[in-house]
Amino acid sequence: MSSKIKVVVTGAGGQIGYSLIPRLINGRTFGDKTVDLCLVEIPQVVEKLKGLIMELEDSYFPNMGKVSYTSNFEEAAKDADWFLLVGSIPRGIVYKGKKIEERSDLLKINGGIFVDQGKAIGEFAKTNAKILVVGNPANTNAMIGKKAANNPLQTWLAMTMLDSNRAKSVIAKKINTNVSNIKNMIIWGNHSPTMYPDLENATFNNNKISKLVDDLNWIENDFLPNVQQRGKAVIDARGASSATSAAKAAIDTIIACESPTNEGECFSAAIESDGSYNVPKGLICGFPLVCLKDGTIDIRRDFSLSNYAKDKFQVSIKELLKEREAVLDLIE
Ligand code: NAD
Ligand code: LMR
Repeated sequence: MSSKIKVVVTGAGGQIGYSLIPRLINGRTFGDKTVDLCLVEIPQVVEKLKGLIMELEDSYFPNMGKVSYTSNFEEAAKDADWFLLVGSIPRGIVYKGKKIEERSDLLKINGGIFVDQGKAIGEFAKTNAKILVVGNPANTNAMIGKKAANNPLQTWLAMTMLDSNRAKSVIAKKINTNVSNIKNMIIWGNHSPTMYPDLENATFNNNKISKLVDDLNWIENDFLPNVQQRGKAVIDARGASSATSAAKAAIDTIIACESPTNEGECFSAAIESDGSYNVPKGLICGFPLVCLKDGTIDIRRDFSLSNYAKDKFQVSIKELLKEREAVLDLIE
């Protein structure tokens, strides 16, 4: 295993970037590897990254390797091992005179970014590169990027770890335990209000949470809407979309992908469907994932879904299909 790694972060000058980038070189996320960072921004913003780089230097991170910045994504992608594709527009802001309310409203604005970035990753990055799409709508952006990359050995993921962490937090409060005791908190489907956070398969000290929380009314009217709408609640409260929790979730996803998953456990992210759980092939869909011993990320296929869960999941699959229809011009 190489002791050096190259990580590319787009949207490096944004809110998530500010919280995310220092954690990439803190000696925990990538263990003791030296991390070369390539920070990417649009031309209007790129020079500001000098200030962030000064701060990184002043923070003295022993695992910091070379740090560069650019607005040329092809140059950034060369021989990179990891990509954190954050660069895109968040909802909650006014764009061309219209307030962007839903993540799906960003499809046409952000989707195009991922065509060029996908092509460059397919052509210039390492063959075993891992790509985490954070920019919304994350699932469909990842589908666009993966299609453009056309490089089957690279692993494209869209982030649902934040939803999984949110769900763990709600459950931990409900059963009065620490979040770290909740495992296998699967997010099925889209990173959108249709996502299905699966309480039935989540565990607490190896026991099914559903045995402890047998309260369909609470699940339906409290737990699900709370997790599904948490992004909006944060935007309403702080006037900007979640940033430090999103950065933490991106770090958690990298850590989950960097070492083999413990027996019996899984983590949450969206990956291309191979037809597992009857999800149409090619959609980037939230699944329970594992990191295998050779570093491959795979879907864990042994979970059962109740009819209630299947119905909820189906709503999210339908939404992903609709999003795919809306971007056909970008994936053909
Ligand atoms: P932000 O506006 O603070 O920063 C985004 C940055 O991206 C800006 O600096 C912008 O200049 C840059 N950018 C735009 N287009 C770019 C491009 N083509 N190449 C490189 N950089 C580019 O926004 P933020 O709060 O950091 O959020 C970024 C994205 O992450 C948004 O789409 C937001 O909705 C999404 N998000 C996703 C999750 C998730 O769980 N998947 C969570 C939180 C936020
Ligand atoms: C979130 O879930 O916090 C992000 O996707 C931002 C948003 O638009 O909700």
